[in-house]
Amino acid sequence: MTGPTQFTDFATGRQSRAIFSDEALYRLEMERIFGRCWLFLAHESQIPRPGDFFRTFMGEDDVIVIRQRDMTIGAFLNSCPHRGNRVCRADRGNAKAFTCNYHGWAFAPDGSLASVPLEQEAYFGELDKSRFGLVPVAQVASYKGLVFGCFDPAAPSLEDYLGDAKFYLDVWLDAMPGGTALIGETQKVDLETNWKLPVENVCGDGYHLGWAHAGAMRAVQTMDIAGLTVGNDSIDLEGGLSIAGLNGHSTLAALDGVSGYSFYPDPKPMLDYLEANRATVIERLGRLRGEKLWGSQINITIFPNLQLLPGLNWLRTYHPKGPGRIEQWTWVTVERAMPESMQAAILDNQCLTFGPAGLFDNDDGDNLAASTEQSRGWRTAQMDLHTNMAVGRSGPREGFPGDIAQGLVSEHNQRYFYRRWQEHIDAASWAEVPAYNVNPLGAGAQSEAAARDAA
Ligand code: FES
Ligand code: FE
Repeated sequence: MTGPTQFTDFATGRQSRAIFSDEALYRLEMERIFGRCWLFLAHESQIPRPGDFFRTFMGEDDVIVIRQRDMTIGAFLNSCPHRGNRVCRADRGNAKAFTCNYHGWAFAPDGSLASVPLEQEAYFGELDKSRFGLVPVAQVASYKGLVFGCFDPAAPSLEDYLGDAKFYLDVWLDAMPGGTALIGETQKVDLETNWKLPVENVCGDGYHLGWAHAGAMRAVQTMDIAGLTVGNDSIDLEGGLSIAGLNGHSTLAALDGVSGYSFYPDPKPMLDYLEANRATVIERLGRLRGEKLWGSQINITIFPNLQLLPGLNWLRTYHPKGPGRIEQWTWVTVERAMPESMQAAILDNQCLTFGPAGLFDNDDGDNLAASTEQSRGWRTAQMDLHTNMAVGRSGPREGFPGDIAQGLVSEHNQRYFYRRWQEHIDAASWAEVPAYNVNPLGAGAQSEAAARDAA
């Protein structure tokens, strides 16, 4: 590795292939991206009662997320301060204490060291237990049901970190009274890909849909999405937006209010639900989001590795396991207000489309693994990749925060994702990370959000 600033170029949409394979750069990502950014930990619905816990990862660090007795949420490194063993082996559950398998140290749900075998006899009563609790994650906070953690005490608050992306997140998290929940189990898939490739695939790459997923679309598509067709014969650039410029966060959105349910063989129950509740959503979020975004196919990305697809109704995070491997974790998300039968149909359909054996996911997995593999040779690692579609064709759009390109087929969002990646890699601390949290291009949208907040 020579100098990090050589790796991407926002203006031309260039990325060095080394960013998908270079070990030293990967370690820098752990420090400057996964060690610094707010990372998704869990949905509050997964840990409703005191003692409920869920195990996840922040970068490669194993973390336990625990509901505390006072109902706040804590997160701790799952590593025993004695000799390093994991103190929790279960993926989730409810615990009064976490007892290490190696020598039996036991930790309370607040992370404190509660008991040590042979404390009097072997340590002569001299062990200061207050110094050997589980190490807490520096910051833990929730946004409308989503729990995030951050290792960096100097990071901005979660609210500031999400910034204008909240305008789009609320289309899913706050559209209906009661908010959202995760249902079913965590779907875990090992993929031989660099972690950035699935993020860019979902954050902005509408281009691959009609081509890579042509077979899947033929099998299950029942409604139009912004004119995207099997084989990419046509497209409707007026039918969707690629929205970026949100501190690395982005949204890809159709504007029809229904196409989120395009890949359901029988979308009628979903369409009935949308029709029955649209007035409620308009009242809560305003006309623009209630009519154009709620129910539409929208892909929301929260930098660096969280993605939500309302309509298809999954939420996903990618845990890096080295430069060429990830664990992809997916959950099904629903609005609590949805009837049970609809929730069950959503779970079934998510398995059919984006589950571990899903029609769409297997198309993507193969392409992403091959793009990774074909970028780590001695010669290929010296070459570049390109997201140069529609460069320079973006600007403001009344009512929507962000810098916006027309259509779902654009590489605008990917360019912004790599720009944010580069900004973090170049910065030694948060103080050096550029902030343009509130994009002035979205002034109209903010006034709508502000009006709602004031109401
Ligand atoms: Fe955990 Fe020794 S490593 S008690
Ligand atoms: Fe895909």
